[in-house]
Amino acid sequence: MATIGVFDSGIGGLTVLNEALRQAPSHHYIYLADSANAPYGEKSSDWVAQRSLDLCHWLVREGCQALVVACNTATAEAIAHIRHEMPAIPIIGVEPGIKPAVHQSTNHKVGVLATQNTLKSDKFNALLASLEGDCEFIPQAGLGLVPLIESGQIDSSEIEGLLRQHLQPFQDAGIDTLVLGCTHYPFLTPLIRKILGDGIQLIDTSEAVVKQLSRKLEEFQLLQSAPPRTIRFYSTLDANGLVQLAKQLIPSAFEQHSIETSTVFIS
Ligand code: DGL
Repeated sequence: MATIGVFDSGIGGLTVLNEALRQAPSHHYIYLADSANAPYGEKSSDWVAQRSLDLCHWLVREGCQALVVACNTATAEAIAHIRHEMPAIPIIGVEPGIKPAVHQSTNHKVGVLATQNTLKSDKFNALLASLEGDCEFIPQAGLGLVPLIESGQIDSSEIEGLLRQHLQPFQDAGIDTLVLGCTHYPFLTPLIRKILGDGIQLIDTSEAVVKQLSRKLEEFQLLQSAPPRTIRFYSTLDANGLVQLAKQLIPSAFEQHSIETSTVFIS
């Protein structure tokens, strides 16, 4: 049976878990939200790299046979290190969908909304540098958005006001495509559409990430589990709060799996 660990600084990785349950429902999942330490986007690179590795070790001790780093910031800062330290485990990361955005933009103006750490990381800048063509990228750090999303605000007037400020540079530049470069941001899709309109293409890489997960599971011959399938929700802050938010944000997760939940301290 395959048990897959999915982690994020908080609830953002639920967007990836949701897609994993849609494409690959026949596995056991462990979701770990490090909400006691969110947001990662403004912490030091070394801290994010070490913490991400510690969480991966913890998930493997809990029985995970494959790991999804469902956080752009942790992927940018830590995935090379994690893969180096854990070579026997398939480790799948997420990164801003710059490449699909280049293909889909018709006016060659692409906005990238991500955390400060992702935007300044070597990995992200190497990705930008690897692209050919004349696409103009407008990067914008979504400062302050993650703590509001963590507190369950995905449509409050406070988050709308902040989002309007962050989206203004994209409007000024006349982008036609926006990369959602943080796994928390897909929860803001209705608000983003309200502000930018339906003409903007939004790029979220969850679907591609889960396809890559499925390829890796096959390569490592990790079999699907027999029912009953479980999702274990762990939070370093408040597991009940996590499950309440997950019920609201990804209700289909609760249809086919039995749920376990626990608040954990991970040093
Ligand atoms: N959801 C994360 C990401 O994709 C991290 C956000 C944060 O903790 O700042 O970057």
